[in-house]
Amino acid sequence: MAYKLMERKTVSAGRVVTTVIVAAALLLLVSCREDMHNQPKFIPLRENTFYADGRSARAPVEGTIARGQLEDDPLLYTGKVNGQEADQFPFAITEKDLARGRERFNIYCAPCHSQLGDGNGMIAQRGFKNPPSYYEPRLMKSPVGHFFNVMTNGWGAMGDYSAQVPVADRWRIAAYIRALQLSRSAKSGDVPGRQVARLASEQPASGNNANEGTSERKTESMEAK
Ligand code: HEC
Repeated sequence: MAYKLMERKTVSAGRVVTTVIVAAALLLLVSCREDMHNQPKFIPLRENTFYADGRSARAPVEGTIARGQLEDDPLLYTGKVNGQEADQFPFAITEKDLARGRERFNIYCAPCHSQLGDGNGMIAQRGFKNPPSYYEPRLMKSPVGHFFNVMTNGWGAMGDYSAQVPVADRWRIAAYIRALQLSRSAKSGDVPGRQVARLASEQPASGNNANEGTSERKTESMEAK
């Protein structure tokens, strides 16, 4: 009787073992699912032993230029002609460009330079190095290319704005700074006759209604830059 009991126990232990093995095998099968979990791809900037330099990121082929990145106009892209800061704009500046320049200036530059351009913006008031006033004689005489250059490459304590402000907008901001500078010394005689009547009849400018530019096409093509 005792022997029989033991025998029955042994049998049920064997079943348990079988069940465990089957369950484990099923589990193994589940974890064998590969699908797209492991792809033979290069994760950006991850090291890679395939190439001699150990990098998965490849440099562009020498002598090639990506589409749209030719930048073959030194004046437009550097503000310089023959290595000198130029005193001319690479495209005609319309009222619309000036309005856009004012808007961009007030966003990106005024926090430090102030809306007046006197260098007394809020960030400077809170302790950042005071930028120079745009009305100091040296900057009054600086060519527009200088302002483009400062925005493109930074200047002393000021970082560059090439990532935030696209090329054409940098020129529009430079044009607006020129307009600010002019505003300090302009006389009513500087305003062309036909504009005087218009100015007198106008409400104080809201800034965004100057869109009757004549060189629309040029402006539009520049907007893509
Ligand atoms: C975070 C504050 C800050 C912002 C924003 C800023 N600037 Fe400046 N800027 C400065 C400071 C500070 C200087 C003085 C740097 C120095 O001389 O070390 C300066 C200098 C300049 C100068 C004078 C360069 C010279 O010849 O002395 C120009 C021009 C200028 N900034 C234009 C701009 C324009 C345009 C923008 C907007 C796109 C702009 N800045 C945004 C802080 C700023």
